[in-house]
Amino acid sequence: MMRILSGIQPTGRFHWGNYFGAIRQYIDLQNGQDTAFYFIANLHALTTIRDRDLLARNTFDAAIDLLSLGLDPERATLFVQSDISAVSELCWILMTTTPMGLLERCHAYKDKKSKGLSADAGLFTYPVLMAADILLYDSNLVPVGEDQKQHVEVCRDIAGSFNSSFGDAFVIPEAYIVKDTAKVPGLDGGKMSKSYGNSVEVFEDLKLQKKKIMGITTDSRPIESPKEPEGDHLFQLYSLFATPEQTMTLAERYRRGGFGYGEIKKELVTLAETFFATARKKREELLAKPDYVKKILADGAKKAQKKAEEVLTRIKKSCGIG
Ligand code: ADP
Ligand code: TRP
Repeated sequence: MMRILSGIQPTGRFHWGNYFGAIRQYIDLQNGQDTAFYFIANLHALTTIRDRDLLARNTFDAAIDLLSLGLDPERATLFVQSDISAVSELCWILMTTTPMGLLERCHAYKDKKSKGLSADAGLFTYPVLMAADILLYDSNLVPVGEDQKQHVEVCRDIAGSFNSSFGDAFVIPEAYIVKDTAKVPGLDGGKMSKSYGNSVEVFEDLKLQKKKIMGITTDSRPIESPKEPEGDHLFQLYSLFATPEQTMTLAERYRRGGFGYGEIKKELVTLAETFFATARKKREELLAKPDYVKKILADGAKKAQKKAEEVLTRIKKSCGIG
């Protein structure tokens, strides 16, 4: 059996980068409660959110948003990371064989250090907890965006290092990255990220969303001059929502010239609104059924717990603490 697993932090509302880079792959790959495991990484979010009500609310909102976007509890297991305490136990076990140098090279920690900011041990060991998340369920495939590739590599290294000390205890996972959407650009052309203030949220108020889209940065070439679609972030964003034919037509319009970026932006507003219309409707329904969502998370935790116990027992035995 092939296990697919991924986690997403509840650090705010999901943006287009999260959806096209990661969440859409969760949905495409879900093919059974036993095979597809997805969780809300609230333990990881503790490294940045220090407001209990906000973290609790974000965690629940993340569940509602994932379900609205098409995560199907009949075809996948959805749970909250902290409901499975075995993950923290495995994290400690893994730390004992994780070289410091491996973590010192990880970008989240390195970036913070290079800015002269002090990092806490949670941020430093963040990739070990992520490795525990993956290894605890014998995961084979981990759908993520480009920026998480390094963390999956680290997980492979950590598992390899443990295996070489204690025998083949862990399954070695692989990242699943869809090239075309691995790095969705933001409004300013840089990587879309909630930390850069350049993101468009999936469930944003439509008026605000329109304002943001109309504000996408563009160059100041005259309307009549032909333009190259490749590498243009407005073109890239448009093609996320468009059919292949619409994208081809837009590429021709770029090459021909004679259009204003404003027209394209207006079309993008409509495309994006239509694209997520069903999800928005579903979200309204789910917001009115909090008990139903809680039940999905409780059932998911039960399912994940079973597998977690099995793997943790095996690992503890393998290193002599079973
Ligand atoms: P952010 O960068 O906004 O803090 P997260 O780190 O919480 O986003 O990312 C959650 C998931 O979404 C990860 O799998 C990540 O790789 C993916 N992701 C985030 N931003 C992008 C983007 N701009 N393009 C593609 N995938 C992305
Ligand atoms: N670190 C990931 C992110 O910021 C979230 C995450 C935590 C994760 N544990 C994971 C992703 C395990 C995949 C697998 O997006």
